Amino acid sequence: MPQRPIGVFDSGIGGMTVVRELLRVVPNERIIYFGDTARVPYGTKSVETVKRYAKEDTELLLGHNVKLIVIACNTVSAIAMEEVEHMADGIPVIGTINPCAREAVRVTKGKIGIIGTEATVASRAYELAIQEEAKRQSKLVETFAKACPLFVPLAEEGWIDHPASKLVAEEYLSVLKEAGVDTLILGCTHYPVLTDVIQEVMGSGVTLVNSGAVAAREVPKLISGLEANNNNPEHLVLVSDVPRKFQRIGERFLGRKLPEARQVLFKEAWVMGRDRVGEDILS
Ligand code: DGL
Repeated sequence: MPQRPIGVFDSGIGGMTVVRELLRVVPNERIIYFGDTARVPYGTKSVETVKRYAKEDTELLLGHNVKLIVIACNTVSAIAMEEVEHMADGIPVIGTINPCAREAVRVTKGKIGIIGTEATVASRAYELAIQEEAKRQSKLVETFAKACPLFVPLAEEGWIDHPASKLVAEEYLSVLKEAGVDTLILGCTHYPVLTDVIQEVMGSGVTLVNSGAVAAREVPKLISGLEANNNNPEHLVLVSDVPRKFQRIGERFLGRKLPEARQVLFKEAWVMGRDRVGEDILS
């Protein structure tokens, strides 16, 4: 029986920050990656829309007979984890929030900053997970959250060392610097692409926690008993839009060649929400 792959999905390039760690911790596993590049960003969309996208992404990966699903997207992990688990129907699912909260509480001296998409920050999923974890680890922890939506297009664009990224980082992060956070959760898988500039702005005394990498480190124990032993696994990269920039930026970030990304098209399922859509605008 062919060995089943690990499925990973994100709204775009961000999940590559998880793949980078997976290639290190489970090098013999075949990975199927889906980046929903036609619909990125997720983090500015409504809860209903993100849930729908998450279910469609899960359906796509299940169609490839995956043995584990890694939600390489904090926005989906924060608001649609249950939907993904429900669809996965017993196949293990790992998101970013709980592993990352555990790690941040472990390393902090007491003040944790959280940066993420608008949807992730609005969900308060990190705050909840951190406070539960703080109780478990008997620590007193304060949290400070800030949405940084412009980091996503900057990462998608590959503006890793561009002055515009520095300006945006200074603007977003000043409030967290003023709060004196000692630990900063990169609560969006796109943000590690901008690690250098974020670290530079925050200062070397602040510990950055890469949510995707931390989640990836949980994978070996989740696939225990189902490990593959491929010497040279053939990974598969799927995207929902033309894969032009994806390839270049993905490879730059991973520091190695990616298999050529292939475009997939979702079956369109337009359902009218009201009888006459557009009536308000036209009348
Ligand atoms: N990479 C995603 C996350 O971790 C989402 C970025 C976006 O689509 O807005 O939240």
